[in-house]
Amino acid sequence: MRYLQCLLLWVFPRVWGQSEDQLKNFPFRCLQISSFPNSSCSRTDGLAWLGDVQTHRWSNASTISFLKPWSKGKLSDQQWENLQLVFQVYRTSFTRDVQELVKMLPIIHYPIEMQLSAGCEVHSGNASENFFNVAFQGKHILSFQGTSFQKAPDAPPWTEVAIKVLNNDQGTRETIQQLLNHTCPQLVLGLLEAGKAELEKQEKPVAWLSRGVSPSHGHSQLVCHVYGFYPKPVWVMWMQDEQEQNSTQRGDILPNADGTWYLQATLVVETGNEAGLACWVKHSSLEGKDIILYWGGRYSTLGLILGVLAALVVFVPCFVFLYRKRW
Ligand SMILES: *[C@@H]1O[C@H](CO)[C@@H](O)[C@H](O)[C@H]1NC(C)=O
Ligand SMILES: *[C@@H]1O[C@H](CO)[C@@H](O)[C@H](O)[C@H]1NC(C)=O
Ligand SMILES: *[C@@H]1O[C@H](CO)[C@@H](O)[C@H](O)[C@H]1NC(C)=O
Ligand SMILES: *[C@@H]1O[C@H](CO)[C@@H](O)[C@H](O)[C@H]1NC(C)=O
Ligand SMILES: *[C@@H]1O[C@H](CO)[C@@H](O)[C@H](O)[C@H]1NC(C)=O
Repeated sequence: MRYLQCLLLWVFPRVWGQSEDQLKNFPFRCLQISSFPNSSCSRTDGLAWLGDVQTHRWSNASTISFLKPWSKGKLSDQQWENLQLVFQVYRTSFTRDVQELVKMLPIIHYPIEMQLSAGCEVHSGNASENFFNVAFQGKHILSFQGTSFQKAPDAPPWTEVAIKVLNNDQGTRETIQQLLNHTCPQLVLGLLEAGKAELEKQEKPVAWLSRGVSPSHGHSQLVCHVYGFYPKPVWVMWMQDEQEQNSTQRGDILPNADGTWYLQATLVVETGNEAGLACWVKHSSLEGKDIILYWGGRYSTLGLILGVLAALVVFVPCFVFLYRKRW
């Protein structure tokens, strides 16, 4: 009995911890972009991502496009049809409401840009968090929290009027709660299951070094290129004798067309001081076998030949020992 308890205590945190870790990287985010150049013209486009994978799109059209074979998740065709209907009604009333608001409030002028960001994240045990934020002319003005709309801290005073109108609309508030509390987590669980193979794929990075544009006289810029990895989290650092070079500059992680990622890490050093510098790359796909690229001569052909000769002649046991230790 006690043995079983111990076993359960050992197994459960592992299973739960693992599923929590897996879910954590996959928030579902929808972005709506609405442009109103003047009172008679408007368009609304949307995008949705699960983690960093784009799953859905709608470009000023009433139908949602599925970008992945698994984008329907586990929702039935009937459920998708209902969602499409909700979106059609929503898009029409959103456009009309914004145009009405502009007529009501002389302080607001065209052109108007609005962005909505909404979605949810499912945690272990099916607990979920959700968010619904609205930006007007690039500034966050309101959020949906719990059961109603709330003003953002730095929103202009007229936002109060808009929030009052929105909160009087009981039907819309109920629809939003239904979508955020129930539909979104259900969709996410289905997407995680249906898209498992793609979401959990691992692509190994390829790395190479180059010399960048010299930033000033007497200095060199060393560039480490890390290409084609997936998923996105990656660790890249210039090192000298296992010491992290804190002046390593990481660029943004940029998307490749095939859904993998690309990153550059640069280091500026005094010209002539490059010896012993190496670019280290750690990534989940490498399973602990970090990529280590030395700058210049260390792995040059001549150095390699001399090294191999030396190893053959004198240092075979020592070389094997060091090589093992390094990897
Ligand atoms: C409104 O904006 C659209 C797009 O910029 C333009 O084509 C149209 O002529 C404008 N209409 C009026 C009445 O200004
Ligand atoms: C976007 O769609 C709406 C509704 O179908 C239409 O009235 C509007 O003209 C479209 N906007 C543009 C810029 O095509
Ligand atoms: C979470 O929800 C899914 C789908 O609704 C269900 O199959 C599963 O049993 C639930 N898990 C827990 C721990 O409640
Ligand atoms: C949705 O969740 C909020 C808490 O985040 C709760 O206050 C509200 O009653 C829920 N609404 C529905 C319809 O489930
Ligand atoms: C780099 O940063 C780490 C942690 O912040 C620190 O421990 C280390 O001393 C720094 N190294 C250099 C060379 O500045």
